[in-house]
Amino acid sequence: MTGRRRSKDYRLYENTDFSFPCGVSPAISEFLMNLDRLQSLTQQALSDISSADSPDALEHVRLRYLGRKGKLPEIMAGLKDVSPEDRPAFGKGANDFKVQVTKALGERKESLLSTATPADALDVTLPGNTGPQGANHPIRQIMLRVINIFDRIGFNVATGPDVDTVFHNFDALNTPADHPSRDEQDTFYLNDGTLLRTQTSPIQIRHMLQNPPPVRIIAPGRAYRRDTPDATHSANFHQVEGLYVAEKVSMADLKSDLSYFAQEIVGKKTKVRFRPHFFPFTEPSVEVDFTCHVCKGKGCRVCKNSGWIEILGAGMVDPKVFEAVGYNPETTTGYAFGMGLERIAMIMLEIDDIRRLYENDARFLRQFA
Ligand code: PHE
Repeated sequence: MTGRRRSKDYRLYENTDFSFPCGVSPAISEFLMNLDRLQSLTQQALSDISSADSPDALEHVRLRYLGRKGKLPEIMAGLKDVSPEDRPAFGKGANDFKVQVTKALGERKESLLSTATPADALDVTLPGNTGPQGANHPIRQIMLRVINIFDRIGFNVATGPDVDTVFHNFDALNTPADHPSRDEQDTFYLNDGTLLRTQTSPIQIRHMLQNPPPVRIIAPGRAYRRDTPDATHSANFHQVEGLYVAEKVSMADLKSDLSYFAQEIVGKKTKVRFRPHFFPFTEPSVEVDFTCHVCKGKGCRVCKNSGWIEILGAGMVDPKVFEAVGYNPETTTGYAFGMGLERIAMIMLEIDDIRRLYENDARFLRQFA
């Protein structure tokens, strides 16, 4: 420990604030001359080094002590204020500081690098590589829109298997054994009374067998028929089925719910029209037309000048169907409807050939993304 030495001009600065000194103030050199403090500075540096937990943090420590504006240059600058007789001891202290800190930095760096995991080498702040973004297929887009519209008036989604039984697909739907749709020409039969369902209507049957009335479901899914593919036919297509069963459901409910649907999916002024038709599982049965979305009913090429476009099949559930699922046919009423999604997609998106929907040509699909 050497005595306190001050620069010659110390007295001139006696009442001056050196808290932000430019160059080395007498107060600082006073501090630097104190070898004890130099030693505690060394301790501090060594402890900072060992607690640095990444190469980055270690570099900050290095700069703090050995950098151009760090502690070491400060110490060296203080050397000139040290009296000649104390200078060797102080110089050695300063050198020890430098040697020890440099050595500790090197060791710490090595140990940090050797234990570095790949995660340390990963810069999570870099922007990622983005690939092209996909979108829902047009069929799925329409399906989701239909579900969403009926969801808003209290319908729940129901599903069923693509491979179903003759019972669910035909018998329970009041479709007699001699009905043409049961012909092998029209249906893909599998083994033991199973088939690829020809419609989504068996989902109604499955749901009613499992749940007592009231029932309000919307059932999307694939359907299969032995059709030769052409511009408007595919052996595999999609339908959405609707079923509402309760007491006192009437044709008026069917018409108002479908006209709500028409206005939601096509546009506010869309009207619906019922034409008599036949389905084995509904009585009476109807085909439902919407006013043409292109000419708004005036007549154009798209609607073949009729002003109307056929969209779906519907009707009041036949009491025989209620009987088949164990509902009381005397007191139970309901309506059902079914629509082909390819047909709706083709009309609304102006697609001229159903096969475009299955070719997965990205240039085609991108138009609807
Ligand atoms: N399942 C009928 C079809 O595939 C559509 C439909 C469903 C008709 C429900 C009436 C009621 O053509």
